Amino acid sequence: MSSRLSKALYATEDAKFVIRDDFDHHESIAPNEMLIETRYSGVNPADTKHPTVLGIRPTVIGYDFAGRVLKAPPESEFKEGDVVAGYTPSGMGRPVKYGAHQSLLAAPCDMAFKIPSNLPEAHAAALTVVVMTAADVVHNLFKFPMPTNPGDYTSPILIWGASSAVGLSALQLARASGCKNIFITASPARHDMFKSLGATHTFDYSSATVVEEIQAAVEALGKGSITHALDAAGTVGEPSSADLLAQSVSESTVLSSVLLRPDRRFQMPVALTKDVWRIHPPGAPGPIVIPARPADHWKAWSALQWAIANYGTTFKLPSVSVLDVTAEEALAELTGVENGKRGFGKIVFQHPLK
Ligand SMILES: NC(=O)c1ccc[n+]([C@@H]2O[C@H](COP(=O)([O-])OP(=O)(O)OC[C@H]3O[C@@H](n4cnc5c(N)ncnc54)[C@H](OP(=O)(O)O)[C@@H]3O)[C@@H](O)[C@H]2O)c1
Repeated sequence: MSSRLSKALYATEDAKFVIRDDFDHHESIAPNEMLIETRYSGVNPADTKHPTVLGIRPTVIGYDFAGRVLKAPPESEFKEGDVVAGYTPSGMGRPVKYGAHQSLLAAPCDMAFKIPSNLPEAHAAALTVVVMTAADVVHNLFKFPMPTNPGDYTSPILIWGASSAVGLSALQLARASGCKNIFITASPARHDMFKSLGATHTFDYSSATVVEEIQAAVEALGKGSITHALDAAGTVGEPSSADLLAQSVSESTVLSSVLLRPDRRFQMPVALTKDVWRIHPPGAPGPIVIPARPADHWKAWSALQWAIANYGTTFKLPSVSVLDVTAEEALAELTGVENGKRGFGKIVFQHPLK
């Protein structure tokens, strides 16, 4: 493989995942973009769900990256050799240059940041999608104050599935914005860890009486009912994580779920609200427009900058595993993450893939 060519994980027009090593992005970089030599790409359930469930294909898959700048616009804050991270645009018609799971990629300058010394490079590659999603919930949908100007909020809030990377991020942003009574559900093995990250009341989501346990703890706390609740697990089935969450709270609770839910009380956060993008789920009569919310995007981006600046102290991802694997092994890992089978912790691929 020539160094001009990018080795990539690719979703085909008919939603198959294959390996390609024939992309040359050098001539397709726009004036506001950087050419990046990828060192790590972060894995999200969206990597494989977006081609299959949202019709975003054909494309090179993946959004989160960290790497070295090979070429940057002269007027930008970046220069050749900088070590940067960030994420890349989504939507139908997504150019192959934006896929993160490849050895060379293009990134818009306003979707990237220089990696500070307190943030390990592999962790930087795992951060942007989940923190932007969590920030959209905490600061835009729930309207809690920014971590740089926290409030003092004593009514209880609930995060269902705090072990998910979105849930972990939402927990820490909620604590930083001044939430004092944070209820979470997660597997019991990590309840102490969640307490160290800001949870005040912990519950096992697989307990047969979890709903009653949460309701009793709200009553015992005596600070009123749960005002805001996030389904950060996004499980489906009977009952789904959103169903159990809705049963645990009151009619007036502000609800959010990481997945689109038929119950219209649930608002869905979006990791990328800077620009309009389009999806086409199977069965939908035509493409659906995801509207831009630029003010919300930049608010979430500010929260991300706070998480970056405070990484390792008041914000962290407790488990990030670096996989130095073949492209075939990487594809198998992606399937496990989409199915929710891989369990706790973020994974990132080291590049170039073998
Ligand atoms: N809307 C958006 O823009 C957006 C952006 C990012 C992600 N998402 C969606 O958000 C969801 C989470 O993504 P992620 O990357 O944060 O996930 P993740 O880190 O892969 O989540 C894994 C964790 O989910 C927890 N979990 C599994 N089943 C659960 C259940 N029934 N109840 C509670 N927790 C459960 C497990 O917790 P334990 O270890 O405690 O068992 C596991 O550790 C996915 O559905 C993803 O597609 C949406």
